[in-house]
Amino acid sequence: MDHDKQPDKKETDQTSNLVLDASSTTYRRGKTSSVVKAKAKGLKPGDKAGQFGIFEGDRGVYDSRNELNNLTGKEWVQFTRSWTIHNPPSRSSREVLHPAKFPETLIAEFISFFTKKGETVLDPMLGTGSTLVACKMTDRRGIGVELSKKWVDIARDRAVHLDTDEKNPKQIIIEGDSRNLKKLLADHQVDTVDFCITSPPYWNMLKKSRGHVKSESKKREELGLETYYSESPEDYGNIDAYNDYLSAMHDLFAQVYEVLKDQRYLVVIVQNILTGDGQMVPLAWDLARKLNGLYVLKQEKIWMQDNKMLGSWGYPFEYVSNVHHHYCLVFKKDISKRSLAQSATGAATS
Ligand SMILES: C[S@@+](CC[C@H](N)C(=O)[O-])C[C@H]1O[C@@H](n2cnc3c(N)ncnc32)[C@H](O)[C@@H]1O
Repeated sequence: MDHDKQPDKKETDQTSNLVLDASSTTYRRGKTSSVVKAKAKGLKPGDKAGQFGIFEGDRGVYDSRNELNNLTGKEWVQFTRSWTIHNPPSRSSREVLHPAKFPETLIAEFISFFTKKGETVLDPMLGTGSTLVACKMTDRRGIGVELSKKWVDIARDRAVHLDTDEKNPKQIIIEGDSRNLKKLLADHQVDTVDFCITSPPYWNMLKKSRGHVKSESKKREELGLETYYSESPEDYGNIDAYNDYLSAMHDLFAQVYEVLKDQRYLVVIVQNILTGDGQMVPLAWDLARKLNGLYVLKQEKIWMQDNKMLGSWGYPFEYVSNVHHHYCLVFKKDISKRSLAQSATGAATS
């Protein structure tokens, strides 16, 4: 089934399940909400609602034809807004050692939309294990690969609370180079995954001094914290030539393509970046274009942080932006459309 298929009007009316309730500010079909209607009919949570629906109380109505996730129509539509705000909570003394950890709540939101309970999520650049924590929060299985032992150790510490039972682990942490992703996964008897979400090093930017980020890295330096991931030549963050970096990313996500099930999704969290001389490198857009030859690029969702301090970087001489957003690039594996994606962008596939 095509998960993107929109029900026609008749189907929607039958199940009344894609209509948001009154708390929604932006999406209404001008009709009474599914929750209000179901309650008016005296339905209780768990009751059938129309031909395909199951009433889930205030969560709305779940459509039994939904093969992508466990969300009701109301929850589904709310996720589709093209931006989201997440401010990472304070990190533990171990987590703060890593230069760029993402918030688990952000990842949990994506996992809840792009998988069902019990399905398998891959993160090929695991860092401190946030994706596995989000898998635990949402009751999914998680597999992460991380190059550097120091981050693997932190991920393992955090995973003590995850289900890493040796016989039937729900969460697997692999120390290794994701250039060998397929082999590493095969060694752990993982042939396919249902979803992949990850955030790569933003090229070699952590090693460069550049505008506002320099001050962030200075602060970390003063606290004796790491300012980049590793010295390893295998580290994607240590590739100096930009085109080589993009090619390495392409090769990695081509391996992800092979293990990802058809019709399923990949989310890559990146930023456009500023070089030391104040030029913007559109890394997120370049990567989107590069991978669009392989996957179908569906959308970017913008992750915003609204609790970061504003710095007066260029004042009073030059425009220098405070960059407090990231791009969550959403791709779909759709074997039937692969050639169309290639011809749309002219992107190479190897
Ligand atoms: C942006 S960080 C990921 C942070 C992670 N999402 C978290 O919340 O902790 C990118 C990670 O990719 C890892 N990495 C870089 N090159 C790698 C490679 N060749 N194989 C596996 N991991 C790699 C780095 O060590 C770093 O931890």
